[in-house]
Amino acid sequence: MSAPSAVNRDALIGFLLGRRSIRRFRKELVPMELVKSVLDVARFAPSAGNRQPWVFIVVTDPEIKSKLVKIHRWAYPLEEAPLGIVVACNKDVSPDSYMVDCANAAMYIMLAAHALGLGTVWIQSLRNVEDIQKIVKLPSNYIPVALLAMGYPNESPTPKPRKSLEEIAYLNTFGNTLK
Ligand SMILES: Cc1cc2nc3c(=O)[nH]c(=O)nc-3n(C[C@H](O)[C@H](O)[C@H](O)COP(=O)(O)O)c2cc1C
Repeated sequence: MSAPSAVNRDALIGFLLGRRSIRRFRKELVPMELVKSVLDVARFAPSAGNRQPWVFIVVTDPEIKSKLVKIHRWAYPLEEAPLGIVVACNKDVSPDSYMVDCANAAMYIMLAAHALGLGTVWIQSLRNVEDIQKIVKLPSNYIPVALLAMGYPNESPTPKPRKSLEEIAYLNTFGNTLK
């Protein structure tokens, strides 16, 4: 895509600002073709040396999904979601960067899903790496950096508060106000 026009710019920024974590989902199943469209976009996430150390495991099997729901109490959105996606990266392929590579891919999935009318929420996975590896049969060198619940949204949450730019953005050195 070439540089967006002024109108598109507003729409694109609005799209980014309009994403919310979705924790309530409609019962409707998500067609696999739509899930594939989302993952097809995720392939284009940036990664160190373009090594693309990721795999995406789409979990629709209720039995497997219910095991993932139980990894911790904040995984509850997966219960209602028709599917989950484990985003795992091979730490041997990218030892320094696999975490950020996988986080980039997860964010691309969330944004592509948002563009296609789907809702997602990131479920913490890094305290339950071995549990998740066992549940989805990941080899031990694949770290599940993100677990996403995905489906058609059944809520429209209000935006969560954000820190002000003054609090977090500096000019040249830490603590120096950005003017
Ligand atoms: C690394 C990470 C872990 C998270 N873990 C959970 C989680 O386990 N359960 C959950 O409901 N939300 C989880 N979230 C979602 C955050 O709570 C959410 O992104 C944050 O409150 C901001 O809200 P927003 O995404 O609607 O802007 C997680 C987000 C990130 C990035």
